[in-house]
Amino acid sequence: MRLLLLFAFLTSVSSLKILGIFPYAGKSHFVVFEVLLRELAKRGHQVTVVSEFPQKRSLQNYKDIALEQSPNVEIINIPDMPPPFLRKYAILKYLAQAAWETCDKLNQKSMQDLIKTTEKYDLLLIEYFNTDCFLGFAHKFKVPFIGLSSCYDMPWVGERVANPTNPAYIPNHFANFDVHMNFWERLENTILYLYTNIIYSTLMQGDEIAKKYFGDDLPPLHVLARNTSLFLVNTLPALNGARPKVPSFVEVGGMNINKPKQVSPTVYDMWEIKDVKLDAEDD
Ligand SMILES: *[C@@H]1O[C@H](CO)[C@@H](O)[C@H](O)[C@H]1NC(C)=O
Repeated sequence: MRLLLLFAFLTSVSSLKILGIFPYAGKSHFVVFEVLLRELAKRGHQVTVVSEFPQKRSLQNYKDIALEQSPNVEIINIPDMPPPFLRKYAILKYLAQAAWETCDKLNQKSMQDLIKTTEKYDLLLIEYFNTDCFLGFAHKFKVPFIGLSSCYDMPWVGERVANPTNPAYIPNHFANFDVHMNFWERLENTILYLYTNIIYSTLMQGDEIAKKYFGDDLPPLHVLARNTSLFLVNTLPALNGARPKVPSFVEVGGMNINKPKQVSPTVYDMWEIKDVKLDAEDD
């Protein structure tokens, strides 16, 4: 609903020049953002998107800045991983590795051109996942910016929009706990909260590499991040539990922008759902 209001507001003013920065090589992340980016273009905004996933067919108002294809980061070899109870700690190592590889893309020609461009944008959309090194663009363009998460928010993001992150009752992304935690779960949730935030600020945030490309006058990234205007997160209370939220922390689970597709009859059979009529059209 809030997203609709945002659109209503955006369409009532003249069209905006929007820059989307989604350099993480995970397709499962990009599909979430792509729906929004395409819809913004459809509604008349000039959208420029930095990613590894350019549109296959050209789309009006939508311009790609395509990054070089990197190996699929979504394939993790499970036998290489420690036993399940340690996995939630070990996964940070993979995310840190992926963060460095993602930040290294600042070295690619298209990124270098963007760092030097004299082009002006009105708004930035940027993924909040395993690094903040691309927030250098927020400093460069000096325009409002919106963070997006394609999954349950990372433990280091709530704080920047002043959303409650208290580990006594907010489950950590990596914990997989329900909102109703018992004492031991809360204890581990607190340890994970401290652990993930320390690893993030020391290994993943990316101040050093961002300074290398955006210049030494770049403010600390965690300070820049506090200027986030809005944070859109792909969660839903029905799936992820109810939790306190500030107005700039908006749950947009499933995006719900495209018209729903007809559910296949086998799904109805599986759940023994009878006599359902959806007046949905195929896209
Ligand atoms: C945050 O935004 C304010 C208001 O626009 C601005 O004065 C300040 O310089 C920004 N902080 C950073 C670190 O960019």
